[in-house]
Order: sequence, then C-alpha cells, then structure tokens
Amino acid sequence: MHGTEKKAFDIAWVREQFPSLKLQVNGRAAAFLDGPAGTQVPKQVMDAIQNYFLTANANTCGAFLTSRRNDEMILAARGAMADFFNCDSNEVVFGQNMTTITFVLARAIGRELKPGDEIVVTTLDHDANVAPWRALEEKGVVIRQVDIREADCTLDLDDLKRKISAKTKLVAVGYASNMVGTINPVTEITKLAHAAGALMFIDAVHFAPHGLIDVRALDCDFLACSPYKFFGPHMGTLYGKRQHLEKFMPYKVRPATNTSPECWETGTQVQELIAGIGAAVDYIAELGRHCDPRVKNRREALQTAYRVTPQYETGCSTLSFRMGNHNPTAIATFLGDRGIFTWDGNFYALNLSERLGVEQHGGVLRVGLVHYNTVDEVERLLAALREFVAQ
Ligand SMILES: Cc1ncc(COP(=O)(O)O)c(C=O)c1O
Repeated sequence: MHGTEKKAFDIAWVREQFPSLKLQVNGRAAAFLDGPAGTQVPKQVMDAIQNYFLTANANTCGAFLTSRRNDEMILAARGAMADFFNCDSNEVVFGQNMTTITFVLARAIGRELKPGDEIVVTTLDHDANVAPWRALEEKGVVIRQVDIREADCTLDLDDLKRKISAKTKLVAVGYASNMVGTINPVTEITKLAHAAGALMFIDAVHFAPHGLIDVRALDCDFLACSPYKFFGPHMGTLYGKRQHLEKFMPYKVRPATNTSPECWETGTQVQELIAGIGAAVDYIAELGRHCDPRVKNRREALQTAYRVTPQYETGCSTLSFRMGNHNPTAIATFLGDRGIFTWDGNFYALNLSERLGVEQHGGVLRVGLVHYNTVDEVERLLAALREFVAQ
C-alpha cells in the first residue's frame, strides 16, 4: 500500500454511493457482475443530472442565465474529462457513445486518405474499433487485421509488426479486451505506429473503469471511452491531440462553429448527461480523496483511486468462459433468476468470438467485476454455477 493512504479500500463506503446496488431479485440482493456492458451510477451522478434540469436547462451560447450556466457546466465537464485523460480541456470531445464518435472520426480521417492507404485493426477488438475503419474500404483503404495468440488471447505482436508498414496511416487497438480482459501494450504499439508515421487510436472503453488513463504518457493521437462504463451516464468521449482535432474536419452543418472541439459535437448534445459525466469523474476523485485526504488536486485524487481499486479487484476482473456444451444464454438466465447479472454472447467482439470458434455456439458467458463488487458476490456466483451443473 501507498504509505499515506488512510485505508486499503473502503467497500462499505463505495457501496453506499450506489443506491441501485440495493436492488432485490426474487428476495435476494442483486449482484451486478455485468459491469463491462455498463456500470451502476453513484448518487452524485443522479444529483448532477437532476440539478441540470432544475438550474441550467437550456441550449448553448444564449444571452441568459440558464444558457450561461449550461455553457459553464459543459466547460467544467470538459475540465473533468481533461483531468481524467490528462490532457487539455479543448482536446475533449463529447458524443453519443464510443461507436458513434469513432464512425464520425473515421469519416473525417477518411477524407484525407487515398486508395492503397492502410489501417491496422485487431482480432481482439470490439467491433466499434473495427467496423468504422472497415467502412473506409469503400474509399479503397486497405484494412490489415492483427491476429491473436490463441493460447492466452493476447495480441500477436510479431503479426502486428509485420502488418504495420510505410503504407499504414492509422493503427486502431483496444487498451483492454471487453471479452477476455487482455490488456494490450498500448505504449509500445503507439511507438510502433509512430515509427511508421501512422496515427494511433486507442479504444479505452473497457480499460477505463479499471486503470488510470494518461494520454500524455501514452502519446496516442486519439483515445475513446464511454462514461457509462465508469460509473457515468450513457455517452461517449474522445481525446484527440489538439493539432489533429484542428486538422481533420468532421461533417457538420454550416452555421455550427468550425472551432475545435465543439465542431466535433454535431447538433445539440445530451447536455444533462454531460453534467453527469463531470459528476462521474468527481465521484472517482472523491473515492481517491476518501483513500488519501492529502491529495492536492483532482488528477492526483484520480491517480490514488486508480492505484487502490486494481488492488481490490486483484488483477482479473473480466473473464469469459463456456461450461461444456451448455448454452451461455441458459446459464445467464439461470443466474439472472437468482439475482446474479452476467452477460452471454459475443459482446460485439465479433472477430474474437469467430476466431475462438464460439460464435456459432452462443458465444461465452462473461463475468465482469468492478470496484463495487464483493467477494461474497463471487462466492454466490460460484455456488450458483455448481447448482446449474448439478441440476
Ligand atoms: C471495448 C469496447 N469498445 C467499444 C464499445 C462500444 O462502446 P459504446 O457502447 O459507447 O458505443 C464497447 C461497449 O461494450 C466496448 O466494450
């Protein structure tokens, strides 16, 4: 443990922040082991959304109180995400979700590409980091797909090195796999991409609730994640290096600003949820302060939170498996009836599901833990799985 931290991890305090964890199913407490598809939200996030409607509900850039408050709230939320990413506020873009943002970005980058240019994607990734790039095949862009090492579901780095060349314009890699939990060496991959003169796009959706993001240290060009996976509302966010956000031009309506990052946020945003994003980052910071009240600023508080939670999560928080020939949906239903929430299927990691040969058999069962889960919930899961097999 870090010497100054008050206590290792105060799970009781954490769970108090999340009112929905009190849900009952058939007389038993719900066990939310479904985090990789979206986490529960702390009351701070709910309050921020309600408060937005009570005090700041207006569109942007108006000459009156609620509109000014709305503008201030968006600036504050951008500042919160800037601390989360470790970047400047004007390098933060809000959007509907990671998938939509990535399609928007891919179309904008695609305007600059020519036939024969190459983009590298992977077999490990969620399709939201594959399909938007594959869509550029329409323009003659060539997609190269990096394979995995099947034995441990890690990326085949030799294959990656073979696929990156002078023709590569962008490398799109996930920080962590939403199906099997593999954490990719994204710093090393960013260096390989840059050495070839390519841009680096990181999908950090699955990583964000588990590990500290530092885009400056990573030196990536773009990184996307979704606040609803880290205790916030259903939206997506993008970090883009300022020079790239200014250089690439998204499709937009004529009266809308050409100034970045706002020009990337087409139409009216779900502003009440942007208020919730700021509160989600502040919740994580509050957790950090709860562990060490001496932290000096929000970034330090976030660093503390992300130092303590992985220790509690003990390294392996996402796993997928099959049990003989049992259909994963049948297992998930059995568990769901007992108040244990898990996911079955491919979770849109289609390349991986196909590569592992499980796609035509209903995929896998996925158990995903975050910092509000308990050992007791894991024991309940194991007991229920034994019960399923014995029936
Ligand atoms: C690793 C990963 N990338 C991308 C996505 C897509 O995110 P969104 O739902 O915000 O479009 C998900 C969602 O499950 C994911 O787990």
